Amino acid sequence: MISISNQYCIQKVVSVCAFVILAFICQQGQAQKTLTGEAQINIWLKQMTLDEKVAMCHAQSKFTSKGVPRLGIPEVTMSDGPHGVRAEVNWDNWSAAGWTNDSCTAFPALTCLAATFNPQMSLLYGQAIGEEARYRNKDVLLGPGVNIYRTPLNGRNFEYMGEDPYLSSIMVVPYIKGVQQNAVAACVKHYAFNNQELWRSSVDVSASDRAMFEIYLPAFKAAVMEGKAWSIMGSYNKFRGEHCCHNDLLLNKILKDEWKFDGVVISDWGGVHNTTQAINNGLDIEMGTGTDGFGKGAKNAYDFYYLANAYKTALRNGEASMTVLNDKVSRILRMILRTSMSKNRPFGSLVSEAHSTAARKVAEEGIVLLKNQDNFLPLNLKEVKTIAVIGENATRSLTIGGGSSGLKVKYEVSPLQGLLDKVGNSVNINYQMGYASGASDYNKEEASSYDADSLMREAVTIASKADVVIYVGGLNKNHLQDSEDGDRAGLNLPFGQDKLLTEILKVNKKVAIVLISGNAVAMPWVNDVPAILQSWYLGSEAGNAIASVLLGEVNPSGKLPFTFPVQLSDNGAHSFGAISYPGIDKKQEYKEDILVGYRWHDTKKIEPLFAFGHGLSYTNFLYKNLQLSRVVNGVVTATFTITNTGKVYGGEVAQLYVHKKNSSIIRAEKELKGFQKVFLNPGESKSVSIQLKNNAFQYYDETKKDWATEKGEYEIQVGGSSRTIRLNGKVIL
Ligand code: BGC
Repeated sequence: MISISNQYCIQKVVSVCAFVILAFICQQGQAQKTLTGEAQINIWLKQMTLDEKVAMCHAQSKFTSKGVPRLGIPEVTMSDGPHGVRAEVNWDNWSAAGWTNDSCTAFPALTCLAATFNPQMSLLYGQAIGEEARYRNKDVLLGPGVNIYRTPLNGRNFEYMGEDPYLSSIMVVPYIKGVQQNAVAACVKHYAFNNQELWRSSVDVSASDRAMFEIYLPAFKAAVMEGKAWSIMGSYNKFRGEHCCHNDLLLNKILKDEWKFDGVVISDWGGVHNTTQAINNGLDIEMGTGTDGFGKGAKNAYDFYYLANAYKTALRNGEASMTVLNDKVSRILRMILRTSMSKNRPFGSLVSEAHSTAARKVAEEGIVLLKNQDNFLPLNLKEVKTIAVIGENATRSLTIGGGSSGLKVKYEVSPLQGLLDKVGNSVNINYQMGYASGASDYNKEEASSYDADSLMREAVTIASKADVVIYVGGLNKNHLQDSEDGDRAGLNLPFGQDKLLTEILKVNKKVAIVLISGNAVAMPWVNDVPAILQSWYLGSEAGNAIASVLLGEVNPSGKLPFTFPVQLSDNGAHSFGAISYPGIDKKQEYKEDILVGYRWHDTKKIEPLFAFGHGLSYTNFLYKNLQLSRVVNGVVTATFTITNTGKVYGGEVAQLYVHKKNSSIIRAEKELKGFQKVFLNPGESKSVSIQLKNNAFQYYDETKKDWATEKGEYEIQVGGSSRTIRLNGKVIL
């Protein structure tokens, strides 16, 4: 029997205990709230089992990897990228899931974004696509892509930001910041040397340290060190003998040690080939390894991933280190804390008006006016009563196709529709396809559905009766025409378009070409047409943007982010034969070394068809009065004035190139080291200042394995393209 006093004692003890427990729980809660991310990660690491940790390091479906439900840690959801948020596919295979709430806004392809030369456009783009990804509950957006444009044959150039490391470094950073403001991780891809699609899974690239550090890695470095990207994707190819998804040099030494990357390395889908390397060489999450998710293994095919059961076995046998596993898991947990568990996670939004506006603005600013003889454009509607619109791309959906970046859009305005909407009531617009991607040698399967000759005849007939022809052609994101997993077969336009254009030009010389592509093409007809617009894959607002430029509602201000060569052999990568492109026996040497793009053309004095940085306007700009400050701690400021001397408002990208005089090492004739976009009213002048830090003069010294600066004289060249230098000055270092 318990006495009253005993009962009292017990009650007292119980309530004291309850109080202590409650206080402990509250304190824990408090601690939970005030814990830093790193402390939280350490607690989780102690709570997690080995199985739970390994499960986080590989896929559990096509686009997700596991969380730890028991501990409230969510799974990671991912989506392509980079031009819009991809439609849902099935859990275990690539078929469309058939959801009805996954249509997106298609933003212009990244070549277009780069062509704006406007970091503000990149921020706007990143914020908008990030909001769409967030609304769709994606933690990781698989983009942006910053592989350097090395050859115009690369099927995926349209997903990247051109040939210049400085331009792509400047443009990639705001995109990442914009995306990540939405608590969505950007996943910068494809790290690195994935500069062609042919043999992408097996080609073994070798390039010098200089080419690596000066040309191919700077945009990734900027993405990590300035953009603070939370994830990065390893590429399919090999570099110096090791696949890039588990490449010790690229991932451990450069990315994680040198650049201090604290995020997650995600493999490209199916880019992992070896368990030991995947464990030790810097990979964190393995995705897309060849399986349909059901086919292999009794339980679950994902167990057969290189970083699944085999990883557990290695850990249990003591062949793999727990420290390395904990490092991978910490990175993944850190990314989860930054994204789905972020306390400041916004809600996102999908296909909003603001997103359409962002897509249209980027498209309008990225279109490049390549040629405009006698001010042929903008169209003068007082004189133009009948327009013949010719070309399959005038009506074709170009947001689909291309591979993983293909999109299911809420809407897409075609170039023809854009023109009809704006002037369809006042101008007589006739349309003919002229060519069909199915009616040529390129695609025999569909060849029966169209007859190339009659398509051409009908097009020539409407051309002969029109005041003006708007030809909308180019490539189309089909296999071998700007698409993943295949390179283009040549530089010329496909589907008989060169012949078609020649026939059209015989009956009507007033032809404006609207070239839709993510790549340079050969233009045998260049001297015969008065106007050419480089129009990229522009996304949902394509037709509106193109029509605005054709009609002069928008004055074009885009500049080429890569060189158009006259012929393929003029391009550096192609000058050295098969060993340099596409490689021999899957081995490839980047023989042109640092001389990529305009660096090659300028140094070797090979005239381009259209130069890097080129882009015309409906107005003219005058550059004046270059002043260079004194060099203080290696920093120089260039100041000059730009005046709009024409009659309409317009934007100009002032570009600053550095040329080293009498260099003792091989250097490019000039290199872009600064640019600024300015918008001016007619008659208006603005002073532009561009600061050059000491890295603007540096090169990578292979013997010292470090950056170095040559002393002596440097020429500062300022102008509207790499080939139209208007002002010169010199700096002595
Ligand atoms: C592509 C990646 C893409 C991934 C997922 C791969 O084939 O190379 O860019 O993010 O698929 O769709």
